[in-house]
This record gives sequence, structure tokens and C-alpha cells, in this order.
Amino acid sequence: MERTFVMIKPDGVKRRLVGEIIRRFEDRGFNIVAMKMLTPSLELAEQHYAIHRDKPFYEGLVSFITSGPVVPMVLEAPDAVRLVRNMIGALNPADTLPGTIRGDFTVDTQQNLIHGADAPETAEMEIALWFPELK
Ligand code: GTP
Ligand code: MG
Repeated sequence: MERTFVMIKPDGVKRRLVGEIIRRFEDRGFNIVAMKMLTPSLELAEQHYAIHRDKPFYEGLVSFITSGPVVPMVLEAPDAVRLVRNMIGALNPADTLPGTIRGDFTVDTQQNLIHGADAPETAEMEIALWFPELK
């Protein structure tokens, strides 16, 4: 079993897609290990997206992610990291396949509903950041 970190972004909550997104993961067979809802602090958002600090879209990204409640969760399955990334779909909307979460519900590069950790090591770091109580 592998754990991964997933977060439904503020646009997913505002568009009432929380249930739809969780249903897809449950139908696929993931265990939900932890889940909560919160509006991220500036500090939490900056730590989460530290890797993008020097990108031109960084400030807009941090203000988007702190703009309302998000739903972070820890999901578990064999190969969970890669499974989740495949179910989320590509970053560029023109490359995102129908059947993926982004491919079925988004056309925007920033407001793309959901984040998924990109490697097992990143997943563990993000789980520690968002769920310090799980330690
Ligand atoms: P995450 O799972 O959210 O990390 O998405 P990703 O791994 O597919 O993309 P990446 O880590 O490269 O970028 C993180 C987030 O920054 C994206 O999901 C978008 O919300 C935002 N983002 C990335 N590239 C751009 C861009 O060129 N323009 C804008 N406005 N936002 C971007
Ligand atoms: Mg990423």
C-alpha cells in the first residue's frame, strides 16, 4: 500500500464538486485515510507551493489557494501516487484527457480543481505539512 496527498482546491468546493471527486476515488478503490476542510493560511500555502516560488504565476496561485476552503486528504492504494495523477489528468487543459477530473470539469490552467502529490517523497512531505496530527 502507498499513501498520497490530494487536495480539492477552492474552485472544487465553490463548484460543489467535492462529492463527485471523492466518489471517483472511492469507486476506484482508494481508502480515505484522513480528510478535513479548512481555508489555508498564507504560511501553509507558501510552504505547500514553495517549489513554485520563482514562477510568474506564484503570487496568483497562493492567493487562489487561500481564497476559500479546500479539502485536503490522504488516500491509500497500491501505487496511489501514480493512480491519482492519472485520474487528475494533465496540467495543460489542451492535453487533459476526457475521463480525468480536470478533463471532465476544467478549461483553466490555474483553477483546475485538484492537487495530487507528484512522487511518494513529495506525498510524505505534504502529508506531514497538512496533517501534522497524523504523525
Ligand atoms: P498540482 O497537482 O496542483 O501540483 O498541479 P500539477 O502538478 O499538475 O502542476 P504544477 O505542480 O506544475 O503547478 C501547480 C499549480 O500551479 C497548478 O495545478 C496550477 O493551479 C498552477 N499553475 C501551474 N502552471 C501555471 C501557469 O502557467 N499559470 C497559472 N496561472 N497557474 C499555473
Ligand atoms: Mg504539482
